[in-house]
Amino acid sequence: MKVSSNVIIRPLKKSDIGQLVENALAFYDEVKEDSTLGLDFKKRRPTAHVMRKWHSESYENFRKGNSIYLVAEVDGRIVGKADIESVSPDSEVEHVGSLSVAILKGYRNMGIGFAMFAKLLEKAKAKFRVIRTDVYSDNGASKHLLHKFGFKKAGTIPNFRKRNGKYQNLEIWTLLLKT
Ligand SMILES: CC(C)(COP(=O)(O)OP(=O)(O)OC[C@H]1O[C@@H](n2cnc3c(N)ncnc32)[C@H](O)[C@@H]1OP(=O)(O)O)[C@@H](O)C(=O)NCCC(=O)NCCS
Repeated sequence: MKVSSNVIIRPLKKSDIGQLVENALAFYDEVKEDSTLGLDFKKRRPTAHVMRKWHSESYENFRKGNSIYLVAEVDGRIVGKADIESVSPDSEVEHVGSLSVAILKGYRNMGIGFAMFAKLLEKAKAKFRVIRTDVYSDNGASKHLLHKFGFKKAGTIPNFRKRNGKYQNLEIWTLLLKT
């Protein structure tokens, strides 16, 4: 699938934080209607102020070189984010990166996730040896992409998340960038 030419995938900028907060809040609205949404949520929706603080911390982490962080922009709007951050910077496991990706509803299944994975993993080769990511068992699109990029399922943690009274299994997937 070819991503349409008006999608720009570029590194995070400090000025993106406002839109990332808006998107994060939109995911809180989405999960009320679609309980399969593959992101984890707090029991109470955080305020925009708290979200801004979290995103500012992520930006600082990126600025210090502890993560790779890309956004996808369509007509000036941030519609996706993908990042890999060290699981523990300045430690014996600093070479292990944790990957997460989220595309805004309305922009999925257009190849943006694929394009972000490709760019992210290319950049990751210079910084990380091992990439891990956590995905819920029912997240078909995410597992399809992981498989395409050579990730292997390392295991399953049963009953990891409780949503709407039901437990869901979490899968750990890994990619070795260097053996
Ligand atoms: C998972 C996610 C990042 C994928 O991004 P995307 O931009 O939609 O991905 P793409 O369009 O590049 O590719 C999606 C692929 O999954 C396939 N797909 C979609 N739904 C699927 C399903 N239920 N089961 C299997 N494959 C599926 C599509 O056909 C496509 O594959 P193809 O190009 O080989 O035909 C996006 O759906 C998302 O952000 N979801 C919500 C947050 C989330 O789940 N994040 C991941 C947490 S690990």
